[in-house]
Amino acid sequence: MSIASLNDLLAAGVSGRTVLVRSDLNVPLDGTTITDAGRIIASAPTIAALADAGAAVIVTAHLGRPKGAPDPQYSLAPVAERLGQELGRNVQLAVDVVGTDALARAEGLTDGDVLLLENIRFDPRETSKDPAEREALAQALVELVGPHGAFVSDGFGVVHREQASVYDVAKLLPHYAGGLVDSEVTVLRKLTDEVERPYAVVLGGSKVSDKLGVIESLAPKVDTLVIGGGMAFTFIAAQGFSVGDSLLQQDQVEVCADLLAKYGDVIHLPIDVVVAHSFSADAESKVVSSDQIPDGWMGLDIGPESVKRFAAVLGGAKTIFWNGPAGVFEFDKFAAGTRGVAEAIAAATAAGAFSVVGGGDSAAAVRTLGLPDDGFSHISTGGGASLEYLEGKQLPGLTVLED
Ligand code: 3PG
Repeated sequence: MSIASLNDLLAAGVSGRTVLVRSDLNVPLDGTTITDAGRIIASAPTIAALADAGAAVIVTAHLGRPKGAPDPQYSLAPVAERLGQELGRNVQLAVDVVGTDALARAEGLTDGDVLLLENIRFDPRETSKDPAEREALAQALVELVGPHGAFVSDGFGVVHREQASVYDVAKLLPHYAGGLVDSEVTVLRKLTDEVERPYAVVLGGSKVSDKLGVIESLAPKVDTLVIGGGMAFTFIAAQGFSVGDSLLQQDQVEVCADLLAKYGDVIHLPIDVVVAHSFSADAESKVVSSDQIPDGWMGLDIGPESVKRFAAVLGGAKTIFWNGPAGVFEFDKFAAGTRGVAEAIAAATAAGAFSVVGGGDSAAAVRTLGLPDDGFSHISTGGGASLEYLEGKQLPGLTVLED
């Protein structure tokens, strides 16, 4: 089984052809301001290579999770502008997905032009569970690129989704893995096939239920599994302690207790936490031991002793994967835990460890906290996708590219 690459397509020649590129341009926005353009910057080289080689490029992408209908707050307009800056070219934005405007613009493209279709999730067929509905949308995408078209799958962050623009369209067109998908897979393979030990994984974020699969699959393979963020409180509850008003998934406490019983020697939990009276940037706060969280207080960050302990284990690691912030880093008062973890990973990297930051939130944390991207070996554009890859799951957007 092999996957044809962007270079194979470029070698075959793209001048005079229209190429459909699926990118993941799902960036965080504050109103219409992009707060972290990482995914746009990472997606630009594949689009640029095709346009430079003379292809007319049609880019399709999603933003957020609109409900299958146009919704202005999820318009790709800010993304089109930023992508244009990144490419140093005009990027047209179609006002619809595969409608009359998209068709007219697609027909008018000449070599080197770039057209971005409006948010693909404005069309309910994109995420439909009915393969026939998805195929109908995929067929409409094929019509945009015409008889000599090709498909380049470059949205690594969505390859775990069986969706029309990721999966179904690849079956209808000659298909290639884009440069970003290629480089992401090459990096993640190092974490599955050739991992250098000690191997440490740091997981954070709010929901333990989202991470159970990855914990189950990674715990037996890693030397250290550090758990922080909101999900740590369900584990703390599983240790038998009260967590006050902290985030708690009551229905997962038993599962967490089982995981602790099985993998207690590799799992590291916070020993202290920063608790607050309310979920707000200026809430009154204090540091308490994680077995002494008072009623009426909620944990919003890991404490300084936990950071020290986590830094000590991470300091000895040769391979590190990090997904999910350790606390509510968006509020300055509760950012120290995430910063401490990030700095410990950067220090280990400087000392020779191979480190991968996976996930939109962790990547955004690195940039929001002003840490340099090059402090880490790789910052992945995929959150869910990188976790599912590490879990060993088949990713539909990758398997469909195999010939
Ligand atoms: C992501 O942000 O992880 C990707 O863009 C996929 O988005 P989704 O989880 O809404 O499918």
